[in-house]
Amino acid sequence: MKIAIIGAGNVGGALAKTFSRAGHSVVIADRDPEEAGQLAAQVGGTGTADLGRAASQAEVVVLAVPFAASAEQVCKAIAGQVKGKIVIDATNPLKPDFSGLATEGGPSGAERIQQWLPSARVVKAFNTVFASNQAEPVVEGEPVDGLVAADDEQARKTVLGLLADIGFRPIDVGPLARARELEALAFLNIMLQVTKNGTWRSAWKLLSPPPGAVNTAQTAQTGARRGEVG
Ligand SMILES: NC(=O)c1ccc[n+]([C@@H]2O[C@H](COP(=O)([O-])OP(=O)(O)OC[C@H]3O[C@@H](n4cnc5c(N)ncnc54)[C@H](OP(=O)(O)O)[C@@H]3O)[C@@H](O)[C@H]2O)c1
Repeated sequence: MKIAIIGAGNVGGALAKTFSRAGHSVVIADRDPEEAGQLAAQVGGTGTADLGRAASQAEVVVLAVPFAASAEQVCKAIAGQVKGKIVIDATNPLKPDFSGLATEGGPSGAERIQQWLPSARVVKAFNTVFASNQAEPVVEGEPVDGLVAADDEQARKTVLGLLADIGFRPIDVGPLARARELEALAFLNIMLQVTKNGTWRSAWKLLSPPPGAVNTAQTAQTGARRGEVG
């Protein structure tokens, strides 16, 4: 698939590498054209500072920017280019001082992104996984769980398939509203690292999940190999 990644930082870098390795075509967009270009050169993709252009070229757009500082602004920049497209929200809406989630008591970050991008199909994914594990999603010999929340069935299946392509065990956790719990889960893992001097390698693993939550991936890889829309 053609995937635009917005944000060439830890998450953007890890996902650009894993998606490229799995045969997907990647365009990197960042406000710093040099960062975008350097990452693109590493993964054999293209880089740009024009977020709208990157989104227009892709079938799937990944948001990998700080939520509080940049998500709304980025959504404004790509809103005209994502009609009907899958937008993967990998962000965590942390308060700037890391004391909690900026969305506490209200809609999740993902639901807000859906409001800012009403014509897109927003899917929450990757936010519960540290960038170190996104680059290589195996911890203690086990594939890391890739937890996915979405309202659109086809978009959910495509993203579950993308996760399977790059080595995760995809888990469907339900509608986009479940992003509230996914964002809280991510925050808990972050706080564990900070307060217990962690190595930022911990990952969530659901033991004995309901079969209906794990067998719903629609392979995106087949389309990627053929260079088709997945
Ligand atoms: N790090 C993790 O392990 C992890 C795991 C899961 C989810 N997340 C979430 O994923 C998101 C990205 O995290 P990260 O660690 O990758 O952050 P990061 O390393 O700071 O990277 C963010 C990138 O986005 C760029 N950016 C910021 N605002 C932008 C804008 N308006 N337009 C274009 N590009 C912009 C930044 O550019 P500049 O360099 O110019 O600032 C930077 O290259 C955050 O929401 C975070 O909570 C992080």
